Formats: sequence, structure tokens, C-alpha cells
Amino acid sequence: MSVNKKVKRVTTHVIQAMKTRGEKISMLTAYDYSMARIIDEAGIDIILVGDSASNVMAGHETTLPITLDEMIYHASSVIRAVKRCLVVVDLPFGSYQGNSTEALASTIKIMKQSGAHAVKLEGGSEIQESITRILSAGVPVMGHLGLTPQSIYKFGTYTVRAKEEEEAKKLIEDAQMLEKVGCFAIVLEKIPAHLAEKVTAAVNIPIIGIGAGPHTDGQVLVTHDLLGITKDFAPRFLRRYRDLFTEIKGAVQEYIEDVKSKDFPNEKEQY
Ligand code: KIV
Repeated sequence: MSVNKKVKRVTTHVIQAMKTRGEKISMLTAYDYSMARIIDEAGIDIILVGDSASNVMAGHETTLPITLDEMIYHASSVIRAVKRCLVVVDLPFGSYQGNSTEALASTIKIMKQSGAHAVKLEGGSEIQESITRILSAGVPVMGHLGLTPQSIYKFGTYTVRAKEEEEAKKLIEDAQMLEKVGCFAIVLEKIPAHLAEKVTAAVNIPIIGIGAGPHTDGQVLVTHDLLGITKDFAPRFLRRYRDLFTEIKGAVQEYIEDVKSKDFPNEKEQY
């Protein structure tokens, strides 16, 4: 099934309806105007302005350093490009973990200053109060369970989460809690496919997987990974659709060569 052209504007209700009728949900990251424009025109359902911008855009080792103001800068650039898809923005590390007042204040700042449509927060029962507070302000919330990169120093590694029964049980309970309080969707990152299948069946809201197998209601990837712009990241779950690192490098090398050899600009490329 390809892009649903009948949908003029993707809302959280459209996303819910997709789960109900069994249509898979497509989601990708974007952090700037030009990329968001291409992705939106291609027909994506959801753009995530992910805090992976910390790695992909700024070159940090983790997602922890990116600030609320930097996320707003990325999100407002994306919003200016988008005509059709739903835009969800990550609340960055340190902008919501303190308490629910802080979480609401950060959300309001994102919504007011970027024009985004929804926010995403990492975690389960520990942040229930914050999620409830944000939802009560009328802002749609996407949950994020499994591997939550903002907690990387607690986990110690980026390996598959919830392989043990106790963690898997908590993950299912957390997903049910997120549905109960009113989240419109949940991202499940890097967990066993059979567990993701169980979670997807256990809740009525859409489950969007990354490294969580084929049974979720949708899939998300980091755009720069699937385009092969990032080079050093090659987890098993990643399908690379292009090798743009090599493509772009080749184009830049040609340009350098043309400048050095005085081939560029030619007669037609001047005034
Ligand atoms: O920040 C991000 O890009 C994400 C996705 C990996 C789901 O949270």
C-alpha cells in the first residue's frame, strides 16, 4: 500500500484510524527545512524532530547535550517546510525529568515557538505525572519505551532491551499506562520482535517500532541512516536505501576538481 492521497493533513486521529484499519504508519526524522520538505512531499505520515539531532546534526556522542532552544530551532525549520504530515518533537534530556511543571513549561515553549503538533517523551511510570499534565494542556503526547537513549548511562550500552521477563513485564505495563493516560502513540525501540508484537496487540493506540520487528503498527528510522549519510552506525535493524555519503563526497570531489582545473564556471555559468 502506498501513500494515501485522500489524507490532506495527517492528524493524531488519522494515525489512530490507520491502526484501526491495519494501514502501516511511516515515520522518519528531520531536523531542517530542506530535508523536511522532501520527506513531506514524498508522503511520510509523521516527521519526528528527534533529539538524535544531537548526534546527526551536532556530532555529539549521545542525545544528552541537545538543548530545548536547539530543539525549537530544528522543529521550527521543519514546520516551515511541512504541508501534510504530523510533526512530533522530542522533549530533550533535562527539559522534563525534574517535575511535571518543568515538563509542561518545556512543552508549551516548544508548541508556541515552533508550531509543532505533538511532543515525545522517553519513559514509563516514572514520568506518568508529567505526561498527564502535558495532555491536560491539550498537547498530544507520543510515548517512547524500550531503549531510551536519554538513559544510556543507566543502561551502559545500546543493546536490545527487555530480553528479561521482568523488564518485558514492566514495558507492557508502561505501554498500557501510556494508553490509559491518553498518549496517541508509542515508539518502541530495540526490543525483541515477539515482545513488540505482544505490546501492539495489548494496546489500542498505534505502536511505532525501530528495531522492534515487523508486527508493530508502523516503523521509524533516522533519515540520515537510511540514506547512508551517517557512516559509522550499522545496527541489524537498519535498512540503507542509498549511500549518499559516497554520492555527496563524489559530487564535492568533482566540484573541487572543476574549480581547480578552471572548468567551473564556464561561459554559460556567468553574467
Ligand atoms: O531521536 C530520535 O531520532 C528517536 C528515534 C530513534 C525514534 O527518538
